[in-house]
Amino acid sequence: MSEELKLSILNKLESENSIADTKTAFVDVSPETILGALKSLESQEKVNYKTLTTEFWTIEAEGQDQIDNGSYEARIFYAVPAGEEGITIAELNSKYGKVANLGQGKAFQNKWVKKNGSSIVRLVDSIVDQIKADLEVVQATGTHPNTNVIRDLKRRSLIKQNKVLSYSVSKGANFSTELRKQATDLTVEMLQSGAWKKAEFKKFNFDSLGVNPSGGHLHPLMKVREEFRQIFFDTGFEEMPTNEFVVSSFWNFDALFVPQQHAARDLQDTFFLKEPAVATELPEFWETVKDVHEKGGYGSIGYRYPWSQEEAKKLVLRTHTTAVSSQMLYKLAQEPYRPAKYFSIDRVYRNEAVDATHLAEFHQVEGIIADKNMSLGSLIAFMDRFFQKMGITKLRFKPAYNPYTEPSLEIFSWHEGLNTWVEIGNSGMFRPEMLRPLGLEEGVQVAGFGLSLERPTMIKYGVDNIRALVGHKVDLGMVETNPACRLDKKMGKEVFQSAV
Ligand code: PHE
Repeated sequence: MSEELKLSILNKLESENSIADTKTAFVDVSPETILGALKSLESQEKVNYKTLTTEFWTIEAEGQDQIDNGSYEARIFYAVPAGEEGITIAELNSKYGKVANLGQGKAFQNKWVKKNGSSIVRLVDSIVDQIKADLEVVQATGTHPNTNVIRDLKRRSLIKQNKVLSYSVSKGANFSTELRKQATDLTVEMLQSGAWKKAEFKKFNFDSLGVNPSGGHLHPLMKVREEFRQIFFDTGFEEMPTNEFVVSSFWNFDALFVPQQHAARDLQDTFFLKEPAVATELPEFWETVKDVHEKGGYGSIGYRYPWSQEEAKKLVLRTHTTAVSSQMLYKLAQEPYRPAKYFSIDRVYRNEAVDATHLAEFHQVEGIIADKNMSLGSLIAFMDRFFQKMGITKLRFKPAYNPYTEPSLEIFSWHEGLNTWVEIGNSGMFRPEMLRPLGLEEGVQVAGFGLSLERPTMIKYGVDNIRALVGHKVDLGMVETNPACRLDKKMGKEVFQSAV
């Protein structure tokens, strides 16, 4: 907005006290430009203004044609030669076409011409072309003193109404001819120098529209999750439905042959629900599970303790996605046998002390494979291939313990930077004590493994505190600007934390 225009408005007000109409005071400036200057001056209370609307008439194309060449009726009159002969109607029509059509009626009405047989002859010697004269008045003044004329010209579509906006301006409460730049922010410098005392601050415009958000952005965790999903899909896995975060202890523990006295069930590790606290019923095969816990079977002697239904009914926030795997394996066992590969990537909950690398809520990446004649070698071969897809080639497996797998293997990978082996996940062959009660037939083995999603994501995005990745301290700018994730060869081998 031109400062010059604002200054000349202020100067005019200074010398003349008010501006009656900006249309005449600033002839060459468009109403939009004037309005912009006035709004800015008004926000500083330097001026007040009112909008004036002026209506005026302009000449349409057909009107202009009649100003230039005479009205249609006048042109007809001049087309008829003086004298008895006149002109035949046929000749008039063929020579004057549209003008003859439109002008004849008016020329008759005005008694300028008349019909004589098949000819038209003049009735008068000369005429005054009033339409042309009226149009010239409108063109010169924007209107006509006779409102009937305006109405008639408008009806004939020779003129059109227009509006201009202009403004009357008076001095505002803060009137001065000095234009100062208004401050938009209170800055440290202003506070230190004391400049804030004299500064003029730009008013907030509460009517202005906000900046449009440029679009949504995927959280880094979701980007890495997507990458993992693709690897699973590429290797023929089906995704498990993991939308139930609350499960019974039965599915989370008992069906997995986790004894009811296991430390992980303790309040310290597991979130139990208060309301509702228990599941209404257990799946029909609960007695088979009870038996295997109490007495064993399938080559096992069991845990030899009294198994409690009440304990199994307790509802928990699932502590691992294996609570979903157990249900999926049960479903699988209900169908005629087929090999299956399932995966899931979703949230789990553990009542842990929260620190830089642990939250009470995190994501597990889990894969299970059900097939016949599988050995520990099959599991290791599969993991070799799976991790290779992520650029991780040097793997080692260390015997470990899980209540539901035997053997169980912690997965280690060689970290080039740290020059050491780091644990990246946990895996194993599910025990018959778990699989047979679910209904999976003799000879069907299931291999499984799990890792966390947070760990690789933190490494990938250079985040060293999990709270910068999840929770209320997340920098949305980071979410917005980080590119889509690619699991590449350079990705640290410490990336994959054990899911246990
Ligand atoms: N459920 C295990 C965990 O929470 C991971 C796992 C899944 C281990 C499947 C073996 C087989 O860490």
